[in-house]
Amino acid sequence: MKQISFGLLLFFILAVSTGCGNNPYAKGEEIYVSRCASCHMTDGSGLAGNIPSLKESEVAANNANLVCVILKGIKAEPLEMPAQELEAIPLTNLVNYINHQFKEKTSEVRLDSIKTWIKNCD
Ligand code: HEC
Repeated sequence: MKQISFGLLLFFILAVSTGCGNNPYAKGEEIYVSRCASCHMTDGSGLAGNIPSLKESEVAANNANLVCVILKGIKAEPLEMPAQELEAIPLTNLVNYINHQFKEKTSEVRLDSIKTWIKNCD
């Protein structure tokens, strides 16, 4: 009996410590990896000369501009930034991931603000 409950406890600890509840940026990271990393690289450094780094980007530094660039894309030569279809919630996760990971911003962006910025870039 003791053996079984210890096993259960261990299982519980493992489940909790490896669960996604651990990393508040996991959702945003997932979106970044699947939609942005192929061009801007996993570490956000871009590709010399062709794709801007998100770390030093003045566009990305401003949350409202970042939202519009993601939703509208940028028509440019020789490479363009493709517009992304993202709802407000995943977009909030993505912006918070980018801020946290590449800009070391500590304050979180809220869904309400994201919704306002989405409206403002139409
Ligand atoms: C197919 C490649 C590609 C993908 C995928 C892509 N981008 Fe871009 N992105 C670009 C290119 C190329 C530019 C530069 C366009 C230009 O010349 O102004 C750019 C520009 C930007 C800029 C403006 C940077 C600056 O300082 O001018 C931001 C911010 C940005 N991308 C964020 C993102 C995010 C966030 C994602 C994922 C949702 C993403 N991009 C996905 C290619 C891509």
